[in-house]
Amino acid sequence: MVIEPLVQAAAGMIVHPKGYLRGVRELTRKYDVLLIADEVAVAFGRTGKMFACEHEGVTPDFLCLAKGITGGYLPLAATIATDEIYRAFLGTYAESKTFFHGHTYGGNPLGAAAALASLDIFEEEKTLYHLQAKIARLKEHLARVSQLPHVGQVRQCGLIGAVELVRDKTAKEPYPWEEKRGLRVCDYARSEGVLLRPLGNVIVIMPPLSITLEQLDKILGAVERGIAEVIGE
Ligand SMILES: Cc1ncc(COP(=O)(O)O)c(C=O)c1O
Repeated sequence: MVIEPLVQAAAGMIVHPKGYLRGVRELTRKYDVLLIADEVAVAFGRTGKMFACEHEGVTPDFLCLAKGITGGYLPLAATIATDEIYRAFLGTYAESKTFFHGHTYGGNPLGAAAALASLDIFEEEKTLYHLQAKIARLKEHLARVSQLPHVGQVRQCGLIGAVELVRDKTAKEPYPWEEKRGLRVCDYARSEGVLLRPLGNVIVIMPPLSITLEQLDKILGAVERGIAEVIGE
């Protein structure tokens, strides 16, 4: 079973109901199925904890990591397995159990150094501690934005925010994708110096963890004015 814990990112930042991940883990244990947690997008503080699985006390059999592992400065990814899986590949040479698999840039020293430096920053700057105020500020902003007439839903998980635009708020009827509403809000935001990327009608707010509260205010202000501009047409 492969799962993005807590948030399905590319699907439009769809946030799982509380307890879903834990339920998946219970089922996979019951039926003896390996659980692979793809935390490429959500690990390293993005959800407010170091790993998203921690929110539900889940230990997957495999953990996929990338992006935030280096703070995004250099490309590095890691696939972590439990001891049980690791041991399954041990044996004598004749048993041929070795996992003969490698990547061209596997173990890249520059990437590894960037990752270690980024992990040091988590400790030195108490990144996870300072994140909580930023997450709270994003929550305040999203609560306000959710009141706008053509905002069907806002979603948040840690320092991931999503604002979904709809044609009809009550019926939750989406805008036709051809109208590029999300893209146009982002175009407006750029005119205020805020670079955002939409997923269809969903405006995604996924800033670096080093963002300041003032910068968050600027981002959400630009989103709000962008929505007014694009919806007002
Ligand atoms: C959840 C998730 N998994 C995997 C990937 C792709 O990772 P990679 O580029 O390391 O293959 C992404 C990329 O955005 C992602 O968001």
